[in-house]
Amino acid sequence: MPVRDRDPGPLTARVAREHHLFAENFKRSLVVAKSAKKKAKTKPKAAAKSHDNGPLAKAAKTPATGSAKHPMPGKDAPFPKENEAQIAVHWKEEDLFFPSAKFIGQANLNDPTFVAQFDEANFPECFRAYADLLDWDHYWHTTLDTSNPPFWKWFVGGKLNACYNCVDRHLAQHKNKAALIFVPEPEHEAAQVITYQELYRRVNETAAMLRDFAGLTAGDRVTIHMPMIPELPITMLACARLGVIHSVVFGGFSGEACGLRAADSGSRVLIYADGYHRNGKWVDHKASADVAVDTAAKEGQHIDKVLIWKRYPRHFRSESPMIMGRDYFVEDILHDYHNHIVEPVSQDADAPLFLMYTSGTTGKPKGCQHRTGGYLAYVAGTSKFYQDIHPTDVYWCMADIGWITGHSYIVYGPLALGATSVLYEGVPQFPDAGRPWRIAERLDVNIFHTSPTAIRMLRKAGGEEPKKYNYHFKHMTTVGEPIEPDVWRWYHEVVGKGEAVIVDTWWQTETGGFLITTKPALDAMKPGSAGPAALGIYPVIWDENGKELKAGAGTAGNICIRNPWPGIMQTIWGSPERFVTQYYKKYCKDPNSKDWRDWPYYAADGAVLPADGYYRILGRVDDVINVAGHRLGTKEVESACLSILDIAEAAVVPAVDEVKGRVPVVYISLKPGITASKQIQDKVTSTIETMIGKIARPKMIHIVPDMPKTRSGKIMRRVLAAISNHMDTGDITTLANPDIVEQIREIVQGRVRTPVQEGPADIKLFGEDA
Ligand code: WTA
Repeated sequence: MPVRDRDPGPLTARVAREHHLFAENFKRSLVVAKSAKKKAKTKPKAAAKSHDNGPLAKAAKTPATGSAKHPMPGKDAPFPKENEAQIAVHWKEEDLFFPSAKFIGQANLNDPTFVAQFDEANFPECFRAYADLLDWDHYWHTTLDTSNPPFWKWFVGGKLNACYNCVDRHLAQHKNKAALIFVPEPEHEAAQVITYQELYRRVNETAAMLRDFAGLTAGDRVTIHMPMIPELPITMLACARLGVIHSVVFGGFSGEACGLRAADSGSRVLIYADGYHRNGKWVDHKASADVAVDTAAKEGQHIDKVLIWKRYPRHFRSESPMIMGRDYFVEDILHDYHNHIVEPVSQDADAPLFLMYTSGTTGKPKGCQHRTGGYLAYVAGTSKFYQDIHPTDVYWCMADIGWITGHSYIVYGPLALGATSVLYEGVPQFPDAGRPWRIAERLDVNIFHTSPTAIRMLRKAGGEEPKKYNYHFKHMTTVGEPIEPDVWRWYHEVVGKGEAVIVDTWWQTETGGFLITTKPALDAMKPGSAGPAALGIYPVIWDENGKELKAGAGTAGNICIRNPWPGIMQTIWGSPERFVTQYYKKYCKDPNSKDWRDWPYYAADGAVLPADGYYRILGRVDDVINVAGHRLGTKEVESACLSILDIAEAAVVPAVDEVKGRVPVVYISLKPGITASKQIQDKVTSTIETMIGKIARPKMIHIVPDMPKTRSGKIMRRVLAAISNHMDTGDITTLANPDIVEQIREIVQGRVRTPVQEGPADIKLFGEDA
């Protein structure tokens, strides 16, 4: 075992200071709690005034941290017209909510002086506090190297192993504490508790298998297409132990989608499970491995081994046959590695830890490459300070590990802190909407993390259910989509029983961890607004001309982050140019500059900043639809449609959905001589499911005679989105074929005109950035 010469950093000193501050905070929190009761109807401004010197007041009044720089105008304008840019003004101001005294007293982050350390003047050294949460084999010499923008290097010279930090180092104190609690979807199946010691054993055996049987070494890529079973994090950690770069593909994606990603990453080993339970049904998953292997082969990538975990030991539950010499059952091979221990491979801080593919503006998903040191430090820090995870907590994030939320906030962040992390196999409403609350009661979950879609769904299916169960959350998270204030209030009052604090965390696959969120013990909560910037993050909102839209401007613009931070992705796997173009080109005024201040990160989200400094995120401004909190590239869906020979043109637009937030609606026009039919519509659905997965299934498919187009032939997707959402189609006189708009409207809405609605900002702007 290598010696870990960990620098104790500033944390030890903080413990003493926190003791002192506890008393102060506690007093203050009593005042806060009292006035929170009194203020039921008070408006935010007045509320902030009433505790002028407290941190809550400060947070509410924090002005936008913006730069005075004026970058070059962007060429494609998502916020082109004054009237569209005014959308944000119509938002009703919400009452503030406050954390309880009890919460503040026990919180990891209740020290305003710690917050002050993250002022811009202390950047980038402030992030030492995050890196000091980890054990380093070798301490770094340079916190941030900006010599090759925007390819930042964090904690340069440092060496560490992510698996060691998430598993081994907890054995001394927490060996027999639950690391993971797996809850199967069938309710009669008992939960499985995996202690840190057991996790250590299983990860080591799996690592030995990957190294010695599959021949994998540091820097190799492996594609993992697995459902929510404990073997998924075990496999990820085993990869991390070896320095093997894992690429987890969401289990709900099709075999073809998995194969394309495997080929892009250059994986020659695939890891699967035979099947899993979902919504009361057994899903035979192994079959998609065969499709994945074939698809990868077509892309020129040979897969030589498929390793298959069985959901039930000794019972293979797939109809798909095993292919000799290619497919192997993990349980058979593991026999040879019983009790094997694999030394964690010490990695450079900047060595890639994993790839996570996500949708963007083109048809090809991008492999976001995350680094070992910076990423792990960032997720450990944000899990500690924003999720408020202590080793004694039982933490449940209901996301899927196949998405970034699961990577950062089920696996790496919580386990780095020695937490107990709950893993649930199935869907929240199975067999009924009381299921999550029964799980919470049974396991004594006290930190809960989910998406607005899940909250809407649970409210719709059983608005009173939480009241029947005796659980108590101290903290809850919402992530992935904007949450309507009304839904937020139900989450707070009913799910959180008025006791839990809520953090509405805004971030992205690319950003590794939270960028905008309230500090749960120090900031007031404002339903529908994500809040102020996270520690060490300096956002700014710019319009298309690079003019800053300051706090209180009342105008929406593009949210950007002016500085690098440890959790930001390193690059797009195999496409460094795309990385620069996609995220940095828009507002970089000098491509030769070596100063990080000239390289703001462009997030492709619209946002507005009221005078109180609480960011409200409006949604994507590019061709991405956020379906139930999952990113869906419209170009990917359109190319799936265009693979059908009868189809001439395809356009995919978002429609508002009461539960899922947004759902995709497909418009197609047919080649000459082809008549519209139900068969073609069915073909569209099945093709999308095969090429992408069921999550991309369209809500509607409209066959139209032609698409609305500009004179240069560009399809005006914004007009189609307006029709699907009963919104104003705007000025269509500049179209090459304005008459088609009314024809399409009739196909979609019927002969009788429906009243035009106002509609949300992201739909008004949809397709403008294309
Ligand atoms: C959206 C998920 C509003 C946003 C972590 C972003 C949000 C995209 C929020 C990233 C939030 C995420 N409020 N919108 N709290 N969090 N989004 O990559 O549009 O799957 O760009 O990462 O989700 O989705 P991704």
